[in-house]
Amino acid sequence: MRKKVTVVGAGNVGATVAHRLVDRQLADVVVIDILEGVPQGKGLDLLEAGPVEGYDVRIKGTNDYADTANSNLVVMTAGFPRKPGMSRDDLLKANYEVVKGTIEKIVQYSPDCILIVVTNPLDAMAQTAFRVSGFSRNRVIGMAGVLDTARYRTFIAEALDVSVQNVQGFVLGGHGDTMVPVPRYTAVAGIPVSELLPKEKLDAIIQRTRNGGAEIVNYLKTGSAYYAPSAAVVEMVDAIFNDRKKILPCTVYLDGEYGIKGLFVGVPVKLGARGIEQILEIKLTPEERAALQKSADAVKELAQVIGV
Ligand code: APR
Repeated sequence: MRKKVTVVGAGNVGATVAHRLVDRQLADVVVIDILEGVPQGKGLDLLEAGPVEGYDVRIKGTNDYADTANSNLVVMTAGFPRKPGMSRDDLLKANYEVVKGTIEKIVQYSPDCILIVVTNPLDAMAQTAFRVSGFSRNRVIGMAGVLDTARYRTFIAEALDVSVQNVQGFVLGGHGDTMVPVPRYTAVAGIPVSELLPKEKLDAIIQRTRNGGAEIVNYLKTGSAYYAPSAAVVEMVDAIFNDRKKILPCTVYLDGEYGIKGLFVGVPVKLGARGIEQILEIKLTPEERAALQKSADAVKELAQVIGV
C-alpha cells in the first residue's frame, strides 16, 4: 500500500512539496488550504502531469479535512507571510492561530501521523504543533536545519569550486539570525573545512547562511524561498518512509539534551520509520555551546509570547 501525505497549505512551499513528492512517487498526496479552488486546481494540474512524467500516485486538492484521513505524514506549511506594518509578534500570533487550528483538525483525522512543520517562525510553530497535537516528540519535527545546512554547503562548494556532494556539515540552533553553523564539524571530502578556507571567508559564509532566507526575500520582494525548503522537506520524508536512519539536522523538542529543556531547537537527529529515532548529542566547545544557548534563548522568547 502506498503511503499518504497531507500537505497543509497550497502556497509556494506546499505546492512545491507536493510536486516533488509525486515526482519521486513517495506517496499519494492530499493538499489542503483555506482558499477555495487553489488546492483543487493545483492538485488537478499535478495529477494531469502524471501520464507525461509516468507516475501513478494520486494527488488531490481539497478544503475538507475528511480527505486527509489516515495520512502517514503531514507537512504543515499553512500561514501568513509578513505584511508591511506587521511586527514579528503580530506574525507570530497570527501563525500560531493558523497552526493551532489546522493541527487540531489534522490530529482528529490522522492521529498516528508524523508531523513535519515548516511554517515560520519555525521553532515556535513546531513547539505549537507539539503542544496542540499531544504527540510524542519523535513524531513532531521542524524543518530548518536541512535547509540552512543546504545553504551553508552551497556557499562552501561555490567558494572551493567543488561538488556540493563533497561538503558535509550541519547547522545547529533556531531557524533565525542566531543559528549556529559549526565549522569544526564541517568537512570537504573528509578534509576539515578550516584547512581549505581562510577564517574570514568561512565567517562570511556563516553570515550569509544566517541571512539565507532574507537574501531570497530581498530578491523576490513578494514571497520567500520555496525550492530549497521543499527539497529539504522531501529529503526528510524520504528518510522516514524508506527508514534510512539518516542523520539530519532537524528542529526537535529537547528534554535536557545540550542542557536545554522543554524547547524546540535544531540539532542532529536520526530519521527513520518512527520519525526521530535518536537525538545525537555531540561535544561542543564552550563557545559553540554558548552560541547554541543564545539561539535557544531567542526561541524561548517567542514561545513565551504565545504561551507554548
Ligand atoms: N488553513 C489552511 N491553509 C491556510 C490557512 C489555514 N487556516 N491559513 C493560510 N493558509 C494558506 C494560504 O491560503 C496559502 O495558500 O497557507 C498558504 C501559504 O502559502 P504562501 O503564502 O505561498 O507561503 P509559502 O511561501 O508557501 O510559505 C509557507 O513556510 O517557509 C515558510 O515562512 C514560510 O511560514 C511560511 C510557510
